Amino acid sequence: MPRADDIRGQALEVARGWSPPGAPRSWRLTAALFDAIAAHDELLQRLAAVPADRLPALLASAAVAFLVRRDRPVLLAGYFPEPGADQPPFDDGFFPAFRAFCSARLDDIADVCRTQRYQMNEVARSSQIALGIAATAGAPGDPVALIDLGTGAGLGLQLDRYRYRIGTGTYGPAAAGLTLACEVRGPVVPPPAQLPPIAWRTGVDVHPVDVADPAARAWLLACAPPEASALSRLAAAMEIGRRHPETIISGDVVDVLHPVLGGVPPGLRIVVVDAYTAVFLAQQRRVRLAGILAEAGRTRPVTWLSLDPLVPLGPSGRDSVQGLPVPPALVRDYQDGGVFAVLGARTFAGADDRGRLLARAHPSGGWVEWLGP
Ligand SMILES: C[S@@+](CC[C@H](N)C(=O)[O-])C[C@H]1O[C@@H](n2cnc3c(N)ncnc32)[C@H](O)[C@@H]1O
Repeated sequence: MPRADDIRGQALEVARGWSPPGAPRSWRLTAALFDAIAAHDELLQRLAAVPADRLPALLASAAVAFLVRRDRPVLLAGYFPEPGADQPPFDDGFFPAFRAFCSARLDDIADVCRTQRYQMNEVARSSQIALGIAATAGAPGDPVALIDLGTGAGLGLQLDRYRYRIGTGTYGPAAAGLTLACEVRGPVVPPPAQLPPIAWRTGVDVHPVDVADPAARAWLLACAPPEASALSRLAAAMEIGRRHPETIISGDVVDVLHPVLGGVPPGLRIVVVDAYTAVFLAQQRRVRLAGILAEAGRTRPVTWLSLDPLVPLGPSGRDSVQGLPVPPALVRDYQDGGVFAVLGARTFAGADDRGRLLARAHPSGGWVEWLGP
């Protein structure tokens, strides 16, 4: 069990992440929410009963957002944005309102933390994944099968139904219900994000989220930061998911991937995407994952596209989850406080196993820095 002080430290770290110099005003509430959690001793004592791997500080933020949206407490509700609406103004009245709410509702918050699991789905990562799929596609127009590992609510399975503004380029259906913007950094221009036709798709998750279920949608929204643009894109993506239900297999990726690969119709190149999933697997499980993909690659090409931080998770990260070589300069930037993921591609075809890092990538899809040909 984590001690209250550890949880305070985690909450303060998240608050710092949301308050860099020049942060947009819409980030203020998220930073304040975690600062307020860190300052509430009684709440921290309750959270000390939550096992560390259930991410107590993040879980508490979601529990509060969930209860505030559901019960609309007069002094606090007005600070929290609703999907599709602007960020409400922030002022210091938030802190006493938060303290009063938390103190009065400790049992309810603890109850939500006990029964729910913190689950994060960042649809904006689809921009970076789309670039990766485009960069590794076969002949133009060749259809692919898409398997999204750790798909959560399946938002990554809908990536050809979103519109993208990446650097100066615009891609995807003009009538899409969601447009994702991604800044291009650095001197190298990424390839155009022209997706091949996706002829077959399936997600895998150990805890899938059913977007057809209003309660599951409400909880996923509560897990998103209370920031207007994050909430709006999540709500829009869930709506697209609701209109286009796709298969999601429930299970551990390493246990179920083999039969999932076996179910892909013949003739399709297979793209297996993992966004912020392989990083949570133990090293032997990642090796096993690569082995399953290599085995499937003996009969037809299989590309594993990974968007993950370096491992071990945390500031000492130095290795790619895919086992790809990482340039020392990139490791230095990462360890010096760079908060980014790397986008890598590893393709298994026959006896061939080729891979390379494609890009550095913002954890929430905000920017991409292409690493060159
Ligand atoms: C950080 S979330 C990322 C979700 C989504 N890919 C994204 O980028 O927004 C990690 C997801 O992987 C799932 N997950 C973690 N370990 C898993 C495993 N061993 N097998 C299947 N799913 C797993 C979690 O349930 C969660 O939905």
